[in-house]
Amino acid sequence: MILGALLLVSSATAVPLAHSFSNTLSQAGLFGVNGNRKRLTFDPHGNFKVVSFSDMHFGEGEDVTWGPEQDVNTSIAHAHILDKEKPNYVVFNGDLITGENVYADNATKYLDQVFAPTVARKIPFSSTHGNHDNTLAINHQEEIEYEQAHYSALSYTRSDVGPKPYGSGNYWVPVYASKNDPVPAVVMWFFDSRSFVSGNPAGPGPVPPEADVYWVDEKTVPQYIKQQRALMLRTWKKVLPALVFVHIPVNLPSLEPTVEQETQHRLSQVQKADVLAPLPSAGDHDDEPDPATQGFLNNTYTGRDLPFWNALVDMDGGHGTVLAVTSGHDHGESWCARATASSGIPICFNGHSGYGGYVTAHSAVRNGRVFGLNLRDLAREVPVVRTWNSYENGTVNEEVVLGPDYMPEFN
Ligand SMILES: *[C@@H]1O[C@H](CO)[C@@H](O)[C@H](O)[C@H]1NC(C)=O
Ligand SMILES: *[C@@H]1O[C@H](CO)[C@@H](O)[C@H](O)[C@H]1NC(C)=O
Ligand SMILES: *[C@@H]1O[C@H](CO)[C@@H](O)[C@H](O)[C@H]1NC(C)=O
Ligand SMILES: *[C@@H]1O[C@H](CO)[C@@H](O)[C@H](O)[C@H]1NC(C)=O
Repeated sequence: MILGALLLVSSATAVPLAHSFSNTLSQAGLFGVNGNRKRLTFDPHGNFKVVSFSDMHFGEGEDVTWGPEQDVNTSIAHAHILDKEKPNYVVFNGDLITGENVYADNATKYLDQVFAPTVARKIPFSSTHGNHDNTLAINHQEEIEYEQAHYSALSYTRSDVGPKPYGSGNYWVPVYASKNDPVPAVVMWFFDSRSFVSGNPAGPGPVPPEADVYWVDEKTVPQYIKQQRALMLRTWKKVLPALVFVHIPVNLPSLEPTVEQETQHRLSQVQKADVLAPLPSAGDHDDEPDPATQGFLNNTYTGRDLPFWNALVDMDGGHGTVLAVTSGHDHGESWCARATASSGIPICFNGHSGYGGYVTAHSAVRNGRVFGLNLRDLAREVPVVRTWNSYENGTVNEEVVLGPDYMPEFN
């Protein structure tokens, strides 16, 4: 298949290179290279900035005055942050709406509100989806299809693999140094951590069994990552630096420390590298000691998030090419950390960018997490990326440089 594709490239020199090259690659099975979409490129100074918003929770109170009011506040917060940071790309990292509280008839109109500040500024974007985006009124597949149908000029969201309709938002998007560069400088990966909120206060509610899973699909996604990575390597002859976004964080399995680990942590600093959450890292730590993570079923950790996590560890290959795995879901967590427990891969949290959803002590001022990618940083032997939190009140803080020198004492 690859051989045929390469032959096609050499026999198609009469047509514009970029066009034939990307079409040929998508025929070869490389999903992220799509001839129909505009190429994302770094700016002339070699920078590409990503703002990641999560937990917007639009539509939380459709029939009460505070509902529409808090949605307006969320849009204002996003507008402030976008005008301050002027990003090249926006990631909506799940829980776009509080789907269990909206009427099915107008569920998708909240997506228009989610994207409006970004669309008004003509910024390309894409989405992952959260537990509150899978409900009786709407599901992940419907959100993806609506986004594709109505925002095709700016949205890069796809659905490459995964169970439909609740867990199919798994895809990747390449960013090139310049318009004609044949090899991307960085790849952004997006994954679907599924699960479902029935919103029925009387009991567990009619949760579809195929949605009652709190992890990235272990049957299709690890194989997809492996296949795409192998195709990238064969096509581009290198492992590309990667940013990863998924709504619910992986467990690792020790992101949520056990009682024993917590005790050990207090007693012995030596044990610290086994548990990421309590590590001394910049950002908010309001949801500890138990940030809700993937892999739980009936309040018991099952380890079923590990096939996905292990595929990411394989993708990194110990080379530090996975720059960060960023999640929302836990509104009071906005830190980054890395340790042996994460195989050295930095784990980051989004914080809280919406006025909907629960609020913790520090998440009352809404924020986005920013990644400042730079071509020189990416071309280092081990690539690095700067990341910080940008708040709606104009404060920018908690900046760290993720890479081999970041938290080496815990790795
Ligand atoms: C919206 O923001 C205003 C101004 O900060 C605040 O007074 C108000 O309480 C907020 N409303 C909601 C519903 O969050
Ligand atoms: C949402 O849908 C319901 C039911 O169809 C309708 O009564 C209501 O007016 C809609 N709300 C808005 C804000 O459009
Ligand atoms: C979860 O717990 C409930 C109640 O104890 C039980 O009925 C159900 O079978 C359990 N589900 C799984 C997948 O173990
Ligand atoms: C803005 O909010 C952040 C986060 O809560 C806080 O640290 C900072 O002091 C605030 N800045 C101003 C100017 O109020």
